Amino acid sequence: MAWDFFAAGADDCCTRDENILAYKRIHFRPRMLRDVSVMNISTKLLGTEISFPVGIAPTGFHQLAWPDGEKSTARAAKAMNTCYIASTYSTCTLEEISAAAPGGLRWFQLYIHRNRAVSQQLVQQAEALGFQGLVLTVDLPYTGKRRDDVRNGFRLPPHMKLKNLEGAFEGDDRSEYGLPPNSVDPSVTWSDIYWLRSLTHLPIIIKGILTKEDAELAVRHGVQGIIVSNHGGRQLDGGPATIDALVEVVEAVQGSIEVYLDGGIRKGSDVLKALALGAKCIFIGRPALWGLAYKGEEGLQDVLRILQDEFRLSMALAGCASVSEIGRHLVQFSKL
Ligand code: FNR
Repeated sequence: MAWDFFAAGADDCCTRDENILAYKRIHFRPRMLRDVSVMNISTKLLGTEISFPVGIAPTGFHQLAWPDGEKSTARAAKAMNTCYIASTYSTCTLEEISAAAPGGLRWFQLYIHRNRAVSQQLVQQAEALGFQGLVLTVDLPYTGKRRDDVRNGFRLPPHMKLKNLEGAFEGDDRSEYGLPPNSVDPSVTWSDIYWLRSLTHLPIIIKGILTKEDAELAVRHGVQGIIVSNHGGRQLDGGPATIDALVEVVEAVQGSIEVYLDGGIRKGSDVLKALALGAKCIFIGRPALWGLAYKGEEGLQDVLRILQDEFRLSMALAGCASVSEIGRHLVQFSKL
C-alpha cells in the first residue's frame, strides 16, 4: 500500500511516465577542450547558496517510508547543504522538522484549506520557525484519481497523523489521505496570492505551473519563483512532461523571477538538461522517498550524493566547469 501510494500516478499514469521519457528525446551539444579540472557545481536559490542545483520536493507521509519521517529528510538535506520543501502533509510537526536540523535551508509547502485560519496559522508558524520560502501548490483543487490508492483503499496507518493539521478539522472521517474529504479549498484564485502576501514576508513560490499564460500571471501577481510541476503526474493525466513545459515558462518570465522544475529527474544528465533549458534548480520527489525507504537519512544522502556525482560528471563531459556556463547552447534546441 505504501509503495503504491508513493509510486502512483493519476488515471493511466501517462504524464507520470512521460516526465521520465521526455528526457530521452533531448540531446546534448557537448563542447570539448574546455579545462574541466576544477568544477564548481554550487548555485543559489533566491540568494542562498546550495551545494548543487537539486533540492527535495514536498511529498507527504515520510513516516510511511522511515520511522523518523520528515526529521530524517531534514537532516539529510542539511548534511548535503541543499533545500528541503516540507509538505503541509508531513507526519512530523514543523517544530520537529526544524529542531531535527537547525539552520538547514527549508521552504514550507502550503495547500490552502477551506478552513483559512488553519492555513494562516501554518504560514505564520513556518515563518516564525525560520523557513525561508513559502511554496503554494496550485494544481490540487481536488485530489487526482490514483487507481492504485482506490484499489488498496489507502488509509494512513492509525499510529501516523498529519501532525500539522491535528485538531484542524471536525468529525472523524479521515478517508482522504488522512483528512476529511474535500478539505482543500477548490475556490482558490490568483487574488489569494494577495491574501498570502498579507500574511507573511516570506518569498512566495508557485508550484504547479505548466503554461506561459499562468507564468505571466504569476509574475504579475508578484511571486518570487515558479516550480514547473505536474505533481509527478498525480493530478491531471495527459498534461505535458515538465521538461517540455519548462521552455515556454522560462520564455514568458524573461528572467524576472527564478524558475525551477520537478518531475521525472532520475539522473545527473537530466539535471543538466533542465538547467540548460532554463531551470535554476530542480527538485526530486520519489527518488527522495526511495532513499528514505532504503535507509532513512543515510539512504536519502546516498541518493543526493549519486545525483551530485552524476551531475558533476555530466557537466564536465559537456564542457562546463561551473553552473554559470550551462545554457541553451548545450542542447539541440531546434529538435525539441
Ligand atoms: C507528491 N507531491 C506533492 N506535492 C505537494 O506540493 N505537496 C505534497 O504533499 C505532495 N505529496 C506527494 C506525495 C508523493 C508520494 C509524491 C510522489 C508526490 C508532488 C511532488 O512535490 C513533486 O511534484 C513530484 O513528486 C515530482 O516528481 P518525481 O520527482 O516524483 O518524478
